[in-house]
Amino acid sequence: MAPTPARPRIILDCDPGHDDAVAIVVASHTCDIVGITTVAGNAPLERTAYNARVMRHILDIDVPVVAGAAGPLVVAPAFAGYVHGESGLDGADLPEPTRPLDGTDAVGFIIDTVRSEPGCHLVVTGPMTNIALALRMAPDLGDHIAGISFMGGGTFGNRTPMAEFNLWADPHAAAIVIGSGLPLIMAGLDVTHRFQATPDRIERVRALDGRLASVLSGLFDFFSENYRSRHDDMAGAAVHDPLAVLALTHRELFATSDSFVDVMVTGEHTRGMTVVDQRTLVDRPAANCTVLTDVDADAAWDITIEAIAAGSRSV
Ligand code: RIB
Ligand code: CA
Repeated sequence: MAPTPARPRIILDCDPGHDDAVAIVVASHTCDIVGITTVAGNAPLERTAYNARVMRHILDIDVPVVAGAAGPLVVAPAFAGYVHGESGLDGADLPEPTRPLDGTDAVGFIIDTVRSEPGCHLVVTGPMTNIALALRMAPDLGDHIAGISFMGGGTFGNRTPMAEFNLWADPHAAAIVIGSGLPLIMAGLDVTHRFQATPDRIERVRALDGRLASVLSGLFDFFSENYRSRHDDMAGAAVHDPLAVLALTHRELFATSDSFVDVMVTGEHTRGMTVVDQRTLVDRPAANCTVLTDVDADAAWDITIEAIAAGSRSV
């Protein structure tokens, strides 16, 4: 994969969601966000689209927010209120966003934007439905996309023992994207569980001035309490999604392995499971994905703090 520019131009396709909200903050500080597209996932589409508008409002950034798919390609819609609350962003007093949605055709927006902005990266932090539909509707898209950095998958699961939520929620879309042949970076659970919002890290957020820091400390409190109550080995929430951004902007923070990755689309325990070929056989399948295997979590949190501080100064 070609080296990523210092401040890549990205479309962030997301399902806010606490960690998606952090990804929006980090991306606003480290990338040129050409657009934010939303998909159903952590919450129904109307909530994820609203929550993206809330984060845009708090950050006071002039970025289009365009809603997309309200459900997966084939399987039944399923949400994650058990993690993020019914609103998708429980835990903070959120301001009412004033700017309306800029559209409801995320797929068309992605196609038109990528064609007009060659070299744009797609950062995908929710179910991959919008991306799969765009690739299916515009086979030329691969000629214009610099790469896809996605949060999802791993060698273990969270929604099921083997499947991570984003890929479980729409396994057919994940199979289309991961089988696309486009340059892929995968931030799976193996790496994102090493990036936790621990109490001391949350206190660094709380110590910052401004509305963004105040909102995020409340969101982190809720998110981390949820994780601690549902896991017997986690000190705080795994802040999954910003790693898909930092993989583009701060590759030096990560250990990686280029591997062949595929997705299962069926099975009680395997639907949405990523098969990551870690064999050292010389005749193993060619790698199609740069898999993040470790992260310098302290350094990544330092950048997150920088982004929150910068975003707090904007309002
Ligand atoms: O499994 C974690 C992923 O699912 C994260 O992107 C979280 O926001 C949810 O979308
Ligand atoms: Ca997400």
